[in-house]
Amino acid sequence: MNQASSARIIPVDPFDYLVFGGTGDLALRKLYPSLLQRDADGQLPAKARIFGAARHDGDRQAFVDQVKAHCREYLGPQFPEAAWERFAERLDYLRMDVTKTEDFARLRDILDHEPDAIRVYYLAMAPSLFGQTAANLHAHGLHENGARIVLEKPVGRDLETFQQIDDQVRAHFEENQIYRIDHYLGKETVQNLAALRFSNILFTHVWDADYIDHVQITVAETVGLGERAGYYDRYGAMRDMVQNHLLQLLCLVAMEPPSQLEQDMLRDEKLKVLRALRPWGNTISNDVVFGQYEKGNIGSQEVPGYLEELGADSRTETFVALRTYVDNWRWKGVPFYLRTGKRLASRHSEIVIQFKNVAHSVFDETITATQLQPNRLVLRLQPDEGVSLELMTKDPGPGGMRLRQAKLDLSFQKEFDLHFPDAYERLLLDVVRGNSTLFMRRDEVEAAWQWMGPLLTHWQDSSDKPRPYAAGSWGPLDSNYMIYKDNNRWHEEAPA
Ligand code: BG6
Repeated sequence: MNQASSARIIPVDPFDYLVFGGTGDLALRKLYPSLLQRDADGQLPAKARIFGAARHDGDRQAFVDQVKAHCREYLGPQFPEAAWERFAERLDYLRMDVTKTEDFARLRDILDHEPDAIRVYYLAMAPSLFGQTAANLHAHGLHENGARIVLEKPVGRDLETFQQIDDQVRAHFEENQIYRIDHYLGKETVQNLAALRFSNILFTHVWDADYIDHVQITVAETVGLGERAGYYDRYGAMRDMVQNHLLQLLCLVAMEPPSQLEQDMLRDEKLKVLRALRPWGNTISNDVVFGQYEKGNIGSQEVPGYLEELGADSRTETFVALRTYVDNWRWKGVPFYLRTGKRLASRHSEIVIQFKNVAHSVFDETITATQLQPNRLVLRLQPDEGVSLELMTKDPGPGGMRLRQAKLDLSFQKEFDLHFPDAYERLLLDVVRGNSTLFMRRDEVEAAWQWMGPLLTHWQDSSDKPRPYAAGSWGPLDSNYMIYKDNNRWHEEAPA
């Protein structure tokens, strides 16, 4: 059944959004298109200004043209033609060097034209510049009146460097002014996970080790290095994806229900999960697989391997699969398999909750051995956001009892007939509203780095090369072997 959604547009107060790294990949691909979409939906107030700040020479018109070209490219047919002129009026370019204090004096003069606007500073640039930027903002009084500062991940390369950078920012901004963004928390299906778990009695009593066999979290991408070679080769899949996006998904699956979905209550529960993750022990090399893509085909397109794209030798992992456990009462002994990679077979992200089989089969031996399958709940993050529940039913028609697996499939797009906002659309305006529920608190980021530290050291100290996999595959075979050892299979291989 198709039914209109009851989506609401909640207006926000006048603001000035300042994007440092304002002509970078993230700003052009995600931040401006998201703000444009919000404007087209009527959510931006008349007095909202958006500044792109970068070091190179440039003027307003060239910047506006650049933003338009990228919005057109990334929004495709959704580009809101009618809203563009109004949005363009809001845009301005600032040539700024964040290491130069005089540039901040100029910035202050510009922002002082709208003294009551909420100020948001989005740091979409190298984290090594976060501290100095925060210090310069502070030195010019730009941290006052509840200004907010947004830190793009990953901040640091490990616990120590995260703490150093975060401390530098915290020396100039209060914790409640700092928004550590993980855009996965703004995705519709991720939010839906809370709705599904906490508003359906069907799931409340089966969400534990008694009923769940294992959990799989896959974030597969078809893209390769693109224009981010310098960044990606320094960070790799562990730091770029696992430390933040995948762990946050795991937290939302595994956390205890907070008594309310309020910012600190939710974050307290996620933190407990991160702290309960099993520390890495002697079996570390059996519990993780690092891979790197070689040339191959994605669909009909032949694509080069990582080293060829990079033009240099490198041990950076473009794929990780790992097995971990949440050592608490609820999840005792339940494996959580996490997997992410670039240049995989399809762009496809999902959380699979694999239930156990029924306690006793009333069916004959053949049915029990060949047809009876445990239930499976699949939350599709992208593409085609939705939820499916795999159930056993009777195979229809005469001929005696036979079982067959069937799906209850809910595609949000089809069901609710609505454009699904990009995760950044929600999060960028949450910052203006002062709602940090979907942002990471410092202690969460620390706990994530803490857990990951030994894994990073293990990989750094080992002389192994990442396992090769062909672009367009599902990663190295060792990732399959890792999960076969537990008598499980990745979802795309599991019987339908
Ligand atoms: C970013 C990573 O945080 O997330 C990228 O830095 C990755 O490497 C991207 O491609 C994936 O986001 P999405 O929303 O396209 O799944």
